[in-house]
Amino acid sequence: MTFPGGHFLGVEACSRQEWLKLLRLAGAMKRGEVRLPTPGTVKVLGLLFSKPSTRSRVSFAVAMARLGGQTLDLPPGSTQVSRGEPIADTARVLSRYVDALAIRTFAQADLEAYARASTVPVINALSDVEHPCQVIADFLTLQECFSDLDGLTMAYIGDGNNVAHSLLLAAALLGVHLRVATPRQYGPDPAVVQRARQLGQGRCTVTVLHDPVEACRGAQAVYTDVWSSMGQEAAARQRRRDFAGYCLNADLLAHAARDVVVLHCLPAHRGEEISNEVLEGPESRVFLQAENRLYGQQALLALLLDLA
Ligand code: CP
Ligand code: NVA
Repeated sequence: MTFPGGHFLGVEACSRQEWLKLLRLAGAMKRGEVRLPTPGTVKVLGLLFSKPSTRSRVSFAVAMARLGGQTLDLPPGSTQVSRGEPIADTARVLSRYVDALAIRTFAQADLEAYARASTVPVINALSDVEHPCQVIADFLTLQECFSDLDGLTMAYIGDGNNVAHSLLLAAALLGVHLRVATPRQYGPDPAVVQRARQLGQGRCTVTVLHDPVEACRGAQAVYTDVWSSMGQEAAARQRRRDFAGYCLNADLLAHAARDVVVLHCLPAHRGEEISNEVLEGPESRVFLQAENRLYGQQALLALLLDLA
């Protein structure tokens, strides 16, 4: 059990039951149905972000404020970690000051090192391997659009990256059929795909392919993300060449279901992974999705810190 007091390092930190509870609470919080704790003992969330962020950082700060708590910015470059203090020592010290840590970093191993030494919950606010907080908002958005997630068909077009990994795992836990289409050398980690298939067994299918048209055919949700993630900037030119044909544009979207919704975790590169027309079009739910980061994380923090 992750709630309360556990770590949230990836989608699998929570069971299917906990995911459903998280999504129920996030929806109820958004509708104003949950009485929030009155500020008493102020809880503090430390934000250790080694990569830029707009949505995650701000939605964590606002979520904590709404829960009667606050956040403390702790960019690793400004702490003694940048001068070689071990993560294990840092985590043990910070655990004595703050009530939880949200960490955005490169290596999942660093996140796990923080979690091993920390006595307070550690939350993955994006690593090179997963982006589990993003997919809370994604599935909350799909629940709002379709009411029932069970049996929904989603396509993910583009890079088999951190967002794709978390989508694979959460879709499997929540019973959503997922087809992931990537260029051959950019597929998701086969171990994650295999794990998603195990998690979804008997409930939904997980398909990895290379034809975006086939992936989109009849899909009720189509999702994409950038072709070069943070840290991959040097390879961006090569990647633009390798991903030709994977742009989510009107031609590709025409193969999806009539009631399709378009998702993107943002930030978007218009004209690369998604056309401006589709991002701004009637099928797009990307700003609702961004809004839902707030409610997803508010619910996650309430459950981890035992505030709801
Ligand atoms: N989608 C997302 O995590 O956005 P930020 O990088 O702005 O936090
Ligand atoms: N895959 C992207 C997601 C950004 C929110 C990245 O890691 O940069």
